Amino acid sequence: MSPTYSQAAPEPKRNMGEPAPRLDARLKVTGEARYAADFPINNLAHGVLVTSAIARGRVASLDLEEARAVPGVIEILTHENTGDAVKPLPFGSGAATSIQPLADPRIWHDGQIIALVLADSFEAAREAAYKVGAGYAAEQPSAGFDAAGAETVPALGHAKSHSEDPAVGDADAALRGAATVIEVGYATPTQHHNPIELFSTTCVWNGEHLTVYEPSQSVYGFRGMVAKQLGMDQANVRVVSPYVGGAFGSKGPMTPRTGLIAFAARRIGRPVRCVVSRAQGYTTTTYRAETRHRIRMGAGPDGRISGFTHDGWEVTSRPDAYVVGGTDSTARLYGYGAVATKVHMVKADRNTPGYMRSPPEVPYIYALESAMDELAVALKMDPVELRRVNDTMKEPIKGYPYTSRGLMECFDRAAAAFGWSGRDPAVGSMREGDWLIGMGCAAALYPTNLGAATARVRLSADGTVRVQTAAHEIGNGAYTVIGQMAAERLGVDLAAVTVELGDTDLPPAPVAGGSNTTASVCSTVLKACDAIREKLFRAVGKPDEGSVRDVLEGMPSGAIEEYAEWIPPGAPQDAIRKLYQGASTLRGGSEGEKMMYAFGAEFVEVRIHARTREIRVPRITGAFTAGRIMNTRTAHSQLMGGMIWGISSALHEKTDIDRRHARYINKDIAEYLVPVNADIAKVEVIMIPEEDREVNPAGIKGLGELGNVGTASAIANAVYHATGKRIRDLPIRIEDLL
Ligand code: MOS
Repeated sequence: MSPTYSQAAPEPKRNMGEPAPRLDARLKVTGEARYAADFPINNLAHGVLVTSAIARGRVASLDLEEARAVPGVIEILTHENTGDAVKPLPFGSGAATSIQPLADPRIWHDGQIIALVLADSFEAAREAAYKVGAGYAAEQPSAGFDAAGAETVPALGHAKSHSEDPAVGDADAALRGAATVIEVGYATPTQHHNPIELFSTTCVWNGEHLTVYEPSQSVYGFRGMVAKQLGMDQANVRVVSPYVGGAFGSKGPMTPRTGLIAFAARRIGRPVRCVVSRAQGYTTTTYRAETRHRIRMGAGPDGRISGFTHDGWEVTSRPDAYVVGGTDSTARLYGYGAVATKVHMVKADRNTPGYMRSPPEVPYIYALESAMDELAVALKMDPVELRRVNDTMKEPIKGYPYTSRGLMECFDRAAAAFGWSGRDPAVGSMREGDWLIGMGCAAALYPTNLGAATARVRLSADGTVRVQTAAHEIGNGAYTVIGQMAAERLGVDLAAVTVELGDTDLPPAPVAGGSNTTASVCSTVLKACDAIREKLFRAVGKPDEGSVRDVLEGMPSGAIEEYAEWIPPGAPQDAIRKLYQGASTLRGGSEGEKMMYAFGAEFVEVRIHARTREIRVPRITGAFTAGRIMNTRTAHSQLMGGMIWGISSALHEKTDIDRRHARYINKDIAEYLVPVNADIAKVEVIMIPEEDREVNPAGIKGLGELGNVGTASAIANAVYHATGKRIRDLPIRIEDLL
């Protein structure tokens, strides 16, 4: 390891790459990295959104006179002058919602876009936006669970993304026959992404050609969708997103704003930029919906689980059947006997929810791993041993094998590092001065998703390499790990590699979702590099081994360029065509006949003040197996960040809703609580070497979303251990422990 690497980067072990510093680190800290709203554009007009003050009903009247009188105002778009000029996108096609604002006066949720003000300056647009007068015909909205008028429907048969309710055997009979049975319910709150980089769109027309600058996890997806919205050929659209300042799922599906801004720019004949305010981001993009769970488990005296049922309820919008359906994972984590699961949607007058980091696993594994702890207590068993007794190399629903499964290795390594053996299992037995000490643990898992991907790699005679692929840098280190794969394969220094990402002028790569980027894109880059090597070594008549640098002088021309396409096993034959059209080709996890998952185990210590009930997390230890690790620095950061987000889920984050008006209340980062430095103490990340040749040629499993799975239940379990209080509704706040 080079001495210039900081100590924060763990030394690589077997099947792990060097902790190379991020290729974009300097650009980012110097402000040179251009985020979507940073591109300098001539003659720019500014757009500001006006949003609905009611959650259900319609816009009955609009008074624009005062707004139009503001100096600098160019145009105000409303449903009266926009209509069907911007086509709605069907839900499930990559769009965040089927609700197309300004298409008609209907209001589906609080904070829906009802007007777009365009002006010469941002200030003029904002002033005019405040002066837009709207009258409403309001109806009583349903805010979510338990609200009058909310409609509960099964996800199966209604939601596109939920193709089965995993089940096997007779779970009810198994539960009737079990010596120990628990039946428990859990709840998780609404959460909003709050990326540091605000949502924004900048649209520039050049004749029939449109360029969109927008932070995006899916530039090809956005290209296809915006072309559909405006009824144009996607070849005439370019989407540019070289850096994304926080996404976590919020910039994956395209929101209706993009088409609207593009339309506005065409209407006024000027480029338009719209930066969405923090508060408007809560209602004009997606969020993590609140969930509820009911779990039943039955086990014998040895801890073997004979019956498991998991019912989940998720809030969604009226028109869009969005569910995460995390029973795909909970039904397969352990070797249960019989299993019955069911996912339900509760339709309410809310904006459509969407992906937020580990969308299914965060709420559903929280519920499962909390229930596992409750079962361990009921059985008077060590919670780690309960996991061991129920560990399995075959998922229980169809008996399909895991390609590799490091779950118990993670538990054992993390337990040893954490000092789990020093825990007194008796509730409330550990104390230091005024602080009650609790220790808890939970499993983490995340599906290995893969998508079809393409890349163009060029090796020049001077030994430099250029990699081009429209993957996305969402803060995860994509530039760096993709560059590392090319450097390694061609035997050149990483410093000789340039990586270009985030632009539809480059060959397509999948959506940066489901933690698939490293696995999918590195598999493709590997293929392109191998093709270059083959050509080069054949040309110079030498065996293909070692570095390409040694034989460069024999290169037949100034450069060798190879374009590669990689299709994951089981993907449709037309996956590449779909990729070019911007359609998702992602699959993985439990979808095939082999279970592909990364695993982890997390152990936390909580301290609760005996009198004030203040809750602290002085330390957390996570151990993970995720196949090949490309870069121990960026992987460490992803896993550490995930666990910090898990602490946030357990103790801080919740979007409060005024249930009378179906309206979010704390729409700012002063009142939407996230942990700050003072909330986070020791976070220990252990990466355990793992080789898995079955998942993909590069042997990589995704780990971006792995770290924050299970953390919240580990904390809830530790809170129980400290206090004897089982809090089943997140987040856990001081008032819950009084
Ligand atoms: Mo992630 S929530 O799959 O962008």
